[in-house]
Amino acid sequence: MNRPTMINAFDPSRADDLAAETKRLIERRSRVLGPSYRLFYERPIHVVRSEGVWLIDVHGDKYLDVYNNVPCVGHCHPTVVEAIARQSSVLNTHTRYLFDSVVDYAERLVATFPNALGNVMFTCTGSEAVDLATRIACSQTRGSGIIVTANAYHGVTSAVAAFSPSLGAGVALGSHVRTVPAPDTYRVNADVALRLASDVEAAAQDLKRHGIQPAAFICDSIFSSDGVYVDPPGFLAPAVERIRAAGGLFIADEVQPGFARTGHSMWGFARHNVTPDLVVLGKPMGNGMPIAGVVARPELLEEFGRKSRYFNTFAGNPVSCAAASAVLDVIERDDLLKNAASVGALLLQGLKAIARDTPSIGDVRGAGLFLGVEFVTDHTTRGPAPELALSVVNRLRERNVLISASGPHGNVLKIRPPLVFTVDHAALFLDTLREVVRDLDLLVE
Ligand SMILES: Cc1ncc(COP(=O)(O)O)c(C=O)c1O
Repeated sequence: MNRPTMINAFDPSRADDLAAETKRLIERRSRVLGPSYRLFYERPIHVVRSEGVWLIDVHGDKYLDVYNNVPCVGHCHPTVVEAIARQSSVLNTHTRYLFDSVVDYAERLVATFPNALGNVMFTCTGSEAVDLATRIACSQTRGSGIIVTANAYHGVTSAVAAFSPSLGAGVALGSHVRTVPAPDTYRVNADVALRLASDVEAAAQDLKRHGIQPAAFICDSIFSSDGVYVDPPGFLAPAVERIRAAGGLFIADEVQPGFARTGHSMWGFARHNVTPDLVVLGKPMGNGMPIAGVVARPELLEEFGRKSRYFNTFAGNPVSCAAASAVLDVIERDDLLKNAASVGALLLQGLKAIARDTPSIGDVRGAGLFLGVEFVTDHTTRGPAPELALSVVNRLRERNVLISASGPHGNVLKIRPPLVFTVDHAALFLDTLREVVRDLDLLVE
């Protein structure tokens, strides 16, 4: 069978190399879940427990989690676990009844945004949030055109998959969708801000030429699936001006960089000095509980709210709100924004030191605890070297350290640990990475 690939996906045709018990579970899993699911790594990990920055497998072996942003305050954080347990035993219902916690949490959440963004609507997943944000944008602008970056991922609903090019050639892009090149700061010599802006403008003009009014430019403000592009801060601002000049809105997808990850502020767009029209939140919001949402300029919701009611059965329920509120408690109490900045800076420095001794590493970039390390064939052509990146990912896994890769070619290491990553964890990660690069004969010391 010809299966569409995913970066760092387990290849089921190589299951014979696995322990009998692992192989049996994989077989049962694909029999009952069908062919669409993927596992990570050449040798998938059978996890049974997690704690802080550690995942523990069925044999009791511990893996350092340098990849997962959902458990942002750490796996199974006691404050979050306790909040979920307490609220589950008291009340769990939906937003057609009046209860405090959704209002309390919403007020607290919007207070972390610029004043212009005063409303929040809850969903269960990031995909639903993107879907809702684009419905609002289409309703407001009377348009339908969507502009995204070339390898963007925004989710799985049919509307959103139609503008998620990273799903691959097997998933058609809509005729109302235009892509712009990612702001590849490693390869673009010109001013990346001006280039992105003129690309967005050209995409908007092309939509109009085809009779389609642009509704929105949506981007992940850290360009995670495009390969992690962070600098220079501010490069997004001219593109935001151009989409507005074309009559469209700017939607910031904060599913990846949101909740203090970049170490600069709670939200990735703030590094770029822009105030979006709509912001999409997800993954880390409930530390694993399914809560996501759309933060909006209130005026954008007026007409939408008049035309259509909104009810999402599980979204914003008291248990999810308790978890999400506990996440904010821990981020504030333990100053995880500062931790993301300081430990992230150490990681960046350490990765740059490894890169200096490793000619196959072309570029290292990052903001806070979101970093990318780009493997290339050589420094002149800067051709992508995905097989090297994948070898590094799998060898790290064999040494109980978990990361993955991203970018259109899969040649960029994606390093994105829980926000409670410490200086010691960073040192362990950097030492192990250096050993792996040495093992692969890539190190020139
Ligand atoms: C940038 C971005 N947007 C949206 C989504 C969709 O979120 P979910 O998987 O919760 O539907 C993802 C998920 O990976 C994402 O990375």
